[in-house]
Amino acid sequence: MPDLDRRFIGRTFDDFLFRPQCGAGESRRAVDLSTHLTQSLRLGLPILSSNMDSVTEAEMAMTIALEGGIGIVHRALPIPQQAELVRRVKRSHGAVIEDPWRIPRGTTIKDAKTLARKHSINALLIEQNEGSGILAGLLTARDLPWRTEDDARPVDEFMTPFDRLLTSAPGISDEEAERLMFQQRVERLPLIDGDRRIQGLITMRDLNYLRRRPYSAKDEKGRLLVGAAVGAKGDFLERAAALVEAEVDCLVIDIAHGHSQLMGDAIEALRSRFEDLQLICGNVATGEGARYLADCGADAIKVGVGPGRGCRTRLETAAGVPQLQAIREAWCAVGESVPIIADGGVSHDKDLFLALVCGASTVMLGSALSGTDESPGRVIEDPATQTKKKIYRGMTSPQAVFQSLYDGENHVGLDNALETPAEGQEIQVPYKGSVVDVLRRMRGHIQSSVSYAGERTLEAARQKVLPDPFDYLVPLSEAARRESFVR
Ligand code: XMP
Repeated sequence: MPDLDRRFIGRTFDDFLFRPQCGAGESRRAVDLSTHLTQSLRLGLPILSSNMDSVTEAEMAMTIALEGGIGIVHRALPIPQQAELVRRVKRSHGAVIEDPWRIPRGTTIKDAKTLARKHSINALLIEQNEGSGILAGLLTARDLPWRTEDDARPVDEFMTPFDRLLTSAPGISDEEAERLMFQQRVERLPLIDGDRRIQGLITMRDLNYLRRRPYSAKDEKGRLLVGAAVGAKGDFLERAAALVEAEVDCLVIDIAHGHSQLMGDAIEALRSRFEDLQLICGNVATGEGARYLADCGADAIKVGVGPGRGCRTRLETAAGVPQLQAIREAWCAVGESVPIIADGGVSHDKDLFLALVCGASTVMLGSALSGTDESPGRVIEDPATQTKKKIYRGMTSPQAVFQSLYDGENHVGLDNALETPAEGQEIQVPYKGSVVDVLRRMRGHIQSSVSYAGERTLEAARQKVLPDPFDYLVPLSEAARRESFVR
């Protein structure tokens, strides 16, 4: 690996521009942004949403995965609740509904209507007997009689019976399922095994929805990717076990000072129990820290001490390394052997590209994705200015710590967080609408940056710039910075 170029020392995103290269001449929209999250997990958009209680729960995780990135569900909540959020993401938006709702023959129309209303579903599979799993028919919203006089009649009288249903064996491709459904002009395709047992359900609506989201980040079963955070002490093994049970795709061992024995021990303990689990570890801010995590067996290294918008670590402790320097140091230490996640400090979309071509494979965002419909928390309207806001807060802000410690009856979340004074703060951020628009804007801007770098893929731009970024970076004077950024 090259040594750290001394021109990176003390430098961060606003210290540089990127020197435009001869263009590759193709549409920017065609630029491919796929990248490695870990050696075995790939993303179509190099963005993670932070494991913060004002950024990532199930809504954010589902939405960002549909756009190609991944959400990391925070850990400031009891174990069963965190696992349930992961489960919700895994169950959502797959091409195949693995465990579709079913009711036995003989169920009344009234009960079927109640169940459908409660879970907002518009199709129920009917099984032969309760618990048998043997398909007997399909009842859709269209089949439900609207007259209440029919409420006491059994679903059998209204369902499409098995012998008139189009079904398939599990394992059918999306394309084949779509072709079959179109040919027969049906909207749903129950999947059954040789004994007629229900194995899943594919719907035209889900397939259409997924077609409009071509970048979505999925596992080998076509379910959305999702990660979740654990600590490095206390209940972290129990938490990890529940998350693995919920089929999480990667765990983020997230502690403030990841270059520490505590982290090394946590990686060892998790690795010995969950051999194949992808472990993202952090945070570190130096080459030595990155090397340490790589030697401990991390599958990705999270880099950033103190650049975050809700963070006061540098102000309170003087610890930290300017973020672009930290990213570059980490890359010089481990190269491409372990993917680097640049965490924190992104305030403009240009920062994403600089992070990626100086060493990071992906970028984790907190404040940039906060204030959206999909981030947890309510929209607050300021009556004086009538502007809408949401809360964004550091995970060691007094407010986040207090809530995680006293969540109802439970004592949860951030291990011993009150042992040290707060190193985070709460702020109000403007309400931004859907995060989909934010992520699509970022996609477009990174694609433009790649095109200014004269390449057609993010990976090609990285490989071009990574060996010697100073062939491409323009250091800025104070006047140049004003000319570039003051508007
Ligand atoms: P941005 O700049 O994207 O940063 O808002 C998000 C990252 O900030 C980190 N984080 C904290 N750092 N004290 C800290 O020192 C905190 O209370 C805190 N909360 C979050 C975290 O790495 C996140 O991804």
